[in-house]
Amino acid sequence: MNSRAVFIFMEMHSKQPIGIFDSGVGGTSIWKEIHELLPYEDTLYLADSKNAPYGNKSREEIISLSIKNTEFLLEQNSKIIVVACNTATTNAIKVLRENYDVPFIGIEPAIKPAALQTKTKSIGILATRGTLSSELFSKTSEAFTKDISVMEVVGEGLVPLIEKGALESEEMLQLLTKYTAPMVASEIDYLVLGCSHYPYLIPTLKKILPKEVKIIDSGEAVAKQTKAILDENDLLVKESRPPKLQFYTNASKRTLGLLLSEYSKKILIAEKPF
Ligand code: DGL
Repeated sequence: MNSRAVFIFMEMHSKQPIGIFDSGVGGTSIWKEIHELLPYEDTLYLADSKNAPYGNKSREEIISLSIKNTEFLLEQNSKIIVVACNTATTNAIKVLRENYDVPFIGIEPAIKPAALQTKTKSIGILATRGTLSSELFSKTSEAFTKDISVMEVVGEGLVPLIEKGALESEEMLQLLTKYTAPMVASEIDYLVLGCSHYPYLIPTLKKILPKEVKIIDSGEAVAKQTKAILDENDLLVKESRPPKLQFYTNASKRTLGLLLSEYSKKILIAEKPF
């Protein structure tokens, strides 16, 4: 291949969309960070809401759904895949990387920054069962939390409520109060949100938690990593242009529309029957 051919090849690829998937609508919290940082990039988001939540499924099921989602995004010409789901990342990203020749960006609970900054030496992590029981999570947790106390709590029932759009319902308030009470009792000063759905709960969490508790998630870090890997591979879009921002869901479009209402004029939401 001569240098001109390489140039054309890279140009073609930089114009392809960034593919993003999650078990449902939660990964839109990551999409927002990516779109803010890379406003000229086309994006293609897949919400596998029909199969949400992933958090209580077996590792094999999570891998098989992640493969299906990846193949859909690759069929649509994605140049990179962002696994905007902690549960899918911690259980399936290794298999995805082994099987597909495209860069993958994953998301994991932000234990490291919380562990490095805690003053009370006590942090809380709210995540799905699938994430907390994964080998990848155990390894990261062991590496950074040797001298601190970590309270891990499974956010049972939170994802289905978010999928329904019941972000500030009474049921949500009760569940969050129950899940954070032992963390508050153990004087955490950082709460790590280990599920991409949970950033939508920050307003409710702020009403419940003492004001000294800082809430952190991984959205911004994922967006920065996406940009860095695209740059490294010469895949960043070269010109300033209005991007094509597409969303697919295999369930109702309602909650996606609700969570993305501020972008309603520039996005396209479609139902994908599979
Ligand atoms: N957004 C997914 C995550 O980050 C939710 C998991 C689920 O579907 O249970 O883990």
